[in-house]
Amino acid sequence: MNSEEPVLRLARPLVLAPMAGGPSTPRLAAAVAETGALPFLAAGYLTPGKLREDIEDFESRTSAPFGVNLFTPDPSGQDCDLDTYQRYRDKVLDAANADEALLPEEPVWSDDAFDDKLEVVLASTARFVSFTFGHPSPSVIERIHEAGKLVVLYATSRPGIDAIAASQADVIGIQGPEAGGHRATVAGIDDDSNESLVTLIEHALTVSDNPVFAGGGVATAADVLALLRAGATAVQVGTLFLDADEAGTKKTHRRALHELTDRNTVITTAFTGRPARAIANRFTDSLSEIAPGFYPQLHFLTSALRKDADEHNDAENLNLWAGTGFTHVNAQPAASIVRGLLPYTPPVEEVAAAKGGSRR
Ligand SMILES: Cc1cc2nc3c(=O)[nH]c(=O)nc-3n(C[C@H](O)[C@H](O)[C@H](O)COP(=O)(O)O)c2cc1C
Repeated sequence: MNSEEPVLRLARPLVLAPMAGGPSTPRLAAAVAETGALPFLAAGYLTPGKLREDIEDFESRTSAPFGVNLFTPDPSGQDCDLDTYQRYRDKVLDAANADEALLPEEPVWSDDAFDDKLEVVLASTARFVSFTFGHPSPSVIERIHEAGKLVVLYATSRPGIDAIAASQADVIGIQGPEAGGHRATVAGIDDDSNESLVTLIEHALTVSDNPVFAGGGVATAADVLALLRAGATAVQVGTLFLDADEAGTKKTHRRALHELTDRNTVITTAFTGRPARAIANRFTDSLSEIAPGFYPQLHFLTSALRKDADEHNDAENLNLWAGTGFTHVNAQPAASIVRGLLPYTPPVEEVAAAKGGSRR
């Protein structure tokens, strides 16, 4: 990359989080992009062909900048103990009162077609490529830079931020403890700390001059302003867009966001084997304490069950991913949600200085 090239050009300091499993759609991303905020498409769980379609669909709607998020596979998680898996399967069958045919007897592992999806992204016009659950190799980062794109890595702790600062990544992504969906924790690097998002942003500013995308639990315009004041270059928001008109969120999930507002959110491995924040339900109450950390084996164990739960309006057996701000979710067009979150910040021409100088 040319060192004079600006690292970021965001008309609005807001990032639409990638939300795999349905909510992220090209239509949602394009609607957000048109406001001047930066959307990420979610590649997780998609086939490479479907990812290419989603990117082309987005590109047909707008020429605004966008990013794509990939799940980095962890081959060390390939071997999971069969007895433990099958014992957990029995517990799930009991707790969910599920049809046995929905739950695979043997553990399934996949690398989420990482290499092929990376090629799709490299060949696309995506300006940003982000990675969750792990850091890609330096050679992957180099290829992304050669393709003229910027790399975003995520951390949930100080050591995680330090590791990103020491890498060739262009943007430090920080996920705070209140965030909805999977924790972005990288095994062996960050320890899933519960330090506040503001503390983590401040740490990033002391160890790096890279731009910072930070989010988790954002519910109001005041929350966005507080994170920008703390030093975030842009604030990443997911949950508040789950009931946007353009989102692809499952209907039972949408309903739960409005009907289960008297419940707390909890961090659970019960659905996928990876910690994720969700609205508490019967599934999390019964299984969170005994779920083994087998990812993605538990994702595949429960995926047909969750699809079935959605089809039967059964919120008690569905992964109701949500951040702590979920009671502020409103059904509206995505552009209205962006306007609601940024009433105080007029669009700016450029939210970043040149790489090599101050990069925020
Ligand atoms: C339904 C849902 C799906 C998510 N999927 C992804 C994903 O595919 N990749 C990723 O990096 N983060 C994912 N996240 C986490 C977001 O990137 C982000 O950290 C989070 O949404 C911010 O917190 P908030 O939901 O409270 O706004 C997801 C979050 C939600 C709510």
